[in-house]
Amino acid sequence: MKLLTSILSAKQFDRDSLLELYQLASSLEETLKTKRKLKLLDGYILASLFFEASTRTRLSFETAMHRLGGQVITAVGVQFSSLSKGESLFDTLKMIESYADVCVIRHPSQGASELAAKNISVPVINGGDGAGEHPTQALLDFYTIEKKLQLSKNKLKISFIGDNKFGRTIHSLVVLLQHFDVHLHFVNPSELSLPKKYKKILTTANVQFSESENLQTVKDSDVLYMTRIQEERFIDRSLFDRVKDSFKINLDFVEKCKKGVIVMHPLPRLSEVHSELDNSKQAVYFEQAKNGVYVRMAILLKLLKITF
Ligand code: NCD
Repeated sequence: MKLLTSILSAKQFDRDSLLELYQLASSLEETLKTKRKLKLLDGYILASLFFEASTRTRLSFETAMHRLGGQVITAVGVQFSSLSKGESLFDTLKMIESYADVCVIRHPSQGASELAAKNISVPVINGGDGAGEHPTQALLDFYTIEKKLQLSKNKLKISFIGDNKFGRTIHSLVVLLQHFDVHLHFVNPSELSLPKKYKKILTTANVQFSESENLQTVKDSDVLYMTRIQEERFIDRSLFDRVKDSFKINLDFVEKCKKGVIVMHPLPRLSEVHSELDNSKQAVYFEQAKNGVYVRMAILLKLLKITF
């Protein structure tokens, strides 16, 4: 794998580095079946900086660090940090390099983690930058698809249903999937289609993709990747109200889909995936969240250049 100094975008990964990260995360998953903690990062500190709501990303990064034997310091919410006193993001970030060895940042502005990486000397992980990217979620999504359906060996149809415009996890995952034999299908209200720059990446990489507003077109998919309509990104409230309940799936719908289909969701879910699906074999969203720990352990080891 190329030397990773920070993880800011899914564009930093190619097929080989993805498969290498998969192997490492998979070995860590295996090891954690018999051990609760590895002592690989004893003495290392992760700064966990979440200036926007988060549950899984923050907790799984912190869990990953603890399981590797490292420590965590946290700043959560603008209102509880000195940003609320008017301190610039730059100043807040600048002292992180003297406190921590690696940091993960979630921020509402696109490009925030890139700005951080340019200005501080420790590795920076983009934990979600506005409606931009969320590369580590995409890495755990990739891990889940590879584990469940052997993406690297099979041609898969993967349907993205929901908010393809603002959904940053989709943006990053689409970028990763360009390295595999896939047909990507996007189902969304016309106002929420995948931004042009991602379509351009797919076209350049010769990836087959299609779009529709009809949910019935996903029935032959191998993966249904559901997303929440990202309410917090809408400037036009009336548009949100019009599209918020656009696409919902339930058990009956999934039973009529291709045999073996898996239902993914980065979570949090609202009404787009009915809870009656939760105990079905098809639903893998809780497993995705669990995989986040192994993948983030692998990421931390790579960034800190510690071998396992
Ligand atoms: C996603 C996010 O924050 O982009 N959640 C996550 O990290 N698992 C998806 C979302 O908020 O809808």
